[in-house]
This record gives sequence, structure tokens and C-alpha cells, in this order.
Amino acid sequence: MSVSIRSVHPVFVGEVVGVDLRNPLSVKDVSAIEAGMDKYAVLVFRGLNITDEQQIAFTRHFGELESFTTPGHIQRPEDRRLGPGIADFSNLDKNGTIMSAEDRVWFFKLADRLWHSDSSFRPVPAKYSLLSARVIPSWGANTEFADMRAAYDALDLRTKTEVEDLVCEHSLIYSREAIGFTELIPDEIAAFKPVRQRLVRTHPVTGRKSLFLASHAGAIVGWTIPEARMFLQELIEHATRREFVYSHFWEPNDLVMWDNRTTMHRARRFDRNDVRDMRRTTLAGDAETTERAA
Ligand SMILES: [Fe+2]
Repeated sequence: MSVSIRSVHPVFVGEVVGVDLRNPLSVKDVSAIEAGMDKYAVLVFRGLNITDEQQIAFTRHFGELESFTTPGHIQRPEDRRLGPGIADFSNLDKNGTIMSAEDRVWFFKLADRLWHSDSSFRPVPAKYSLLSARVIPSWGANTEFADMRAAYDALDLRTKTEVEDLVCEHSLIYSREAIGFTELIPDEIAAFKPVRQRLVRTHPVTGRKSLFLASHAGAIVGWTIPEARMFLQELIEHATRREFVYSHFWEPNDLVMWDNRTTMHRARRFDRNDVRDMRRTTLAGDAETTERAA
């Protein structure tokens, strides 16, 4: 059986059938999935009960795992619940107990409910993210995706010209500050130093332009902060209009793969007394977005 992809949303998002993620893929299957990512930007795989090792191996068919010198979170390495190569997007501590409502790691995670693109706060932002659902809460907890290519296409001509060469500053400090979590220690502030990203990106294969937005963006180079934040806020509102958004209702063992270069996403509320065990592998991007400006 070979890979086939059916459209599940008028603008983007496909569901993949005919592939077992637990086994090595053929070159043909990898190309079919890559072509699907270029077209749909978000791909859904259902009903695959995979281990962390299988998820990592599947991810590596599409490039190198993201690795970095500074952390993208505030959890201490000794408090990690999972092994290397896979990130913990659960509400569990290292003993498998639900985190306290006052846990600063929980505060930090809550800001993932703001629209963002993974790792836009790193000098080289991520390519794909792959999130698998191991245990899902009884209510809520959808993940929503927005198509930044469609959002770019729908801008008026004046705004397209205005955004073309803008460069933003992204940092986890901005997105955490937006929900009132400002109690970062000096080491964390140093690790989360803002990085520059172009506001308009061009897809290396399709040539389509997209808006590179995230709640991590808190400044535009050469603009005052209030003017920049107001404009970014307006662009996020435009980019997340209903017609550009797909809301994924998770079933156990779903895996969703998305292109961070062309989409934004956000987590949605759930009952914090329910276990949510989601695990993410992330593929490294290949270049800084500001190279073109240099
Ligand atoms: Fe994310």
C-alpha cells in the first residue's frame, strides 16, 4: 500500500493513509510525505501507537533533529521525564504526577496557548514539528493551526509592500510576558535573548510567500515598541481569521506534523486535573531567515 493524502480543510491540512510510521519508510513514501507537507503544510496521521524511539526514527526521515546550545524552556535537565530527542508537552512532572497549578514550569507551558511558530525564538527556527498524542484529556485540548501562506496572500497590496523587508525580534520573554509570567531568573533571561527573523518568508520549494508571525515576536527593527506590537497584533488577528484555521480534535495515537515556516499553531484549554501526555520531535531548519537581508 502506498501513501495517499486526502484534503481535510478548504485551505490546507491533509490526512495521510497507507503508511505505518513504526517501520522505516521507502524513499518513495518519504518523497510523497514531503510533497504533502509542501502542499498542505499540516499532515494528520491517525491510529498509530508509536514509541518515542519510533517517533524519533520517523522524524529523522525528513532531516536532522533540532539541537541547540540554549534551552527553549525553564525546566531543569534533571527534572526531565523523557529521554533525549523528544520534548515533553505534557502536564506531568518527572514522576508522572500532574504539575501543581503554581508550578512555574506550568506557567511557562501555558503560553503555548498563544499563537506561535516553534523555535522562532532561535536564530535558526525549526522546520517541521511532529506532535503525538499518548494520553488526551477528557475535554478540550484541541490544537489549532493557521495557514500563513493564505494569510499572506490575503493581505492588501499596500500591506504586502510594507511587510516585505521587515525584521522582527522574537523571544520567549515576550510571549511569557504576554500572559503575565515575568518571573524569569537572570540565566533564563540571558538564554532567551531576542533573535531576528524576517516577517515574510519564501518557501524554498514552492516559492510561496508566508507571514512569519508568533507571539514570541515583540519588536520590529526600526519601529517603536507600541507601534510594532500593535501592528503584530493586527497581523496575528488577520492571519488567524476562521477561514485560515484548522482545529485538530485529538484522538489517542494521532500524530500531527506541521511546517513551522508556513503555519502558526496554538494549544487550547483543558481540565488541568486531567492528564495530557503529548510528545514532540522537532526538525532543524537549515538557515537563518535574515540571511536574505544581509
Ligand atoms: Fe508549539
